[in-house]
Amino acid sequence: MATMKKVNHIAVAVPDIEEALKFWRDAMGIDVHHVEDVPSQKSKVAFLPVGDTEVELVQPTSDDSGVAKFVAEKGGGMHHLCFEVDDCAATMVELKAKGIRLLSEEPNVLPGRKMAFIHPKSTGGVLVELYEITL
Ligand code: CO
Repeated sequence: MATMKKVNHIAVAVPDIEEALKFWRDAMGIDVHHVEDVPSQKSKVAFLPVGDTEVELVQPTSDDSGVAKFVAEKGGGMHHLCFEVDDCAATMVELKAKGIRLLSEEPNVLPGRKMAFIHPKSTGGVLVELYEITL
């Protein structure tokens, strides 16, 4: 069975990263590692490491993504929980065999990582991401 190695990150959807940093960085004192444009996810992401995991602030950069809809409807909030695994594709096959719904058939391949999402209908309402580090 696939091993969930750690919580890689907790993603918070925000309408505006700079505005959100007034809480996460300035009030909470969490340093920003970097901010990255992620065109494949139609978003801009701020990475804020905390201990062995990190908070990611996700700001949509177009109107037609899931996270954009989420921000439009709720004004932002807890968006997804991400678990690091050894093998994203194998974990997807395993979950599918257990009747779990995924948002894609294949992992999304990005520089340094592969990722996939599990449908909230299969998780009790939480969007769950699987993440494989590929160095
Ligand atoms: Co994520």
